[in-house]
Amino acid sequence: MKRYRITGGYPLDGEVRIQGSKNAVLPMMAAAVLQEETVELKGCPKISDVFCMEKLLQVLGAETEWERDTLRIRCRRTDGDLSEEKTAGKLRSSILLLGSLLGRNGYGKIRSPGGCTIGRRPTDLHEMALRSLGAGITRTGTGITAYAGRLSGTHIRFPKKSVGATENAILAAVCAEGTTVLDGCAAEPEVQWLCRFLRSMGASVEGEASGCVMIRGRKKLHGTTFCVPPDRIAAGTWLMAGAAVRGNLEFRRAPVKEMQAVLEVYRKMGGQYRVAGDTLFTDSSRVGKAVPYVETAGYPGFPTDLQSPLLAAASTLSGRTIVRETVFEDRFAAVRELIKMGARAEIRGPVIGMEKSRLKGTRVTAGDLRGGAALVIAALAAEGSTEVEQVQYIERGYELFPEQLERLGARIHIIEE
Ligand code: EPZ
Repeated sequence: MKRYRITGGYPLDGEVRIQGSKNAVLPMMAAAVLQEETVELKGCPKISDVFCMEKLLQVLGAETEWERDTLRIRCRRTDGDLSEEKTAGKLRSSILLLGSLLGRNGYGKIRSPGGCTIGRRPTDLHEMALRSLGAGITRTGTGITAYAGRLSGTHIRFPKKSVGATENAILAAVCAEGTTVLDGCAAEPEVQWLCRFLRSMGASVEGEASGCVMIRGRKKLHGTTFCVPPDRIAAGTWLMAGAAVRGNLEFRRAPVKEMQAVLEVYRKMGGQYRVAGDTLFTDSSRVGKAVPYVETAGYPGFPTDLQSPLLAAASTLSGRTIVRETVFEDRFAAVRELIKMGARAEIRGPVIGMEKSRLKGTRVTAGDLRGGAALVIAALAAEGSTEVEQVQYIERGYELFPEQLERLGARIHIIEE
């Protein structure tokens, strides 16, 4: 098993290379199945969730090829059956293949999706959307089967915003017969990037930034070449790491517009930043004040994915930071581990209070991707040496995380046994 050993107390300084966005590229990979030509994704992050999705595409019959950081996918034909494929159970985005397979073949079978354990994560909204488009959905003991012949455009109103269900509905509707209107959609940047990507494949999709998406179904889509956008959550994670150790970090190709909520919180901590072109310059030397209250929310609110990294940084701030998690029911595994490091944190239902703490190195275990990154952030700020176990969670979504930390001045070793 792999783990990281981190010696705290060294600031981070230098240029951060922002990877391609995990949550944007996974739906694009699923969308490649909608048609038979080559899809070329430039700047694709080399992370384990992408490799899992690549494996699923191969099982479906796609040919894939890497050339440096470009991933090519060609799915000339597919049998649409992933019911026996255990890899589907390793990531949440595998469920998006159901929408694509319905659009391509009129049927699809997948094993139940997995993903980080951060709450219940049901699939009812995905199923509701696909049913509304005309698919028959059956849950088997181990997975989900969908049949439709051809899908028909319709009006769907989501009772709750869901990034994945919005993406699945869009994927299924782009090749459906007639017009589909989706109301109550999530408008996260990753949904918007999927729509831009689909337009580059010839789809007719509009309105995605407003939460009401209109799709005119097309008989056939075509291949495309597309640059994967920078990862706003990875960038926010680096920002919180810089804040925790009072570093000065420069972010090239920073998705500044998509980072407004986290930059606002950073500013309240005392962080200073300026933007020149597409570079974000940050200076954390005056970071020090607790942020009284932060609530996670859908975009453009403060992202749930940055809740744990924020709490790790908050443990170094004077005063009490209160964070309310509103998206997932149980995204606090990292806080329980931070307490082992000496964090003065209190979990009350969905609300966490974090006081300034004297963090001390110890052995902690990552329980999910962003929580794992938060433990690394805390370790950078802690006294002594911390060992973070189960780093496979971190490697699901962060590309060359320890390598980049080391380049920025952190003392981090990868231990493999
Ligand atoms: C996406 O997950 C992201 N994952 C998550 O990032 C992110 O935390 C989340 O959106 C919210 O922004 C990917 O894009 C691969 P949701 P998703 O459906 O689509 C409930 C990371 O760390 N819900 O928007 O699964 C659900 O339980 C990951 O990179 C239903 O009730 O999230 C949650 O409370 C973790 N029924 C809320 O909606 C459903 O059918 C929002 O979830 C679907 C969701």
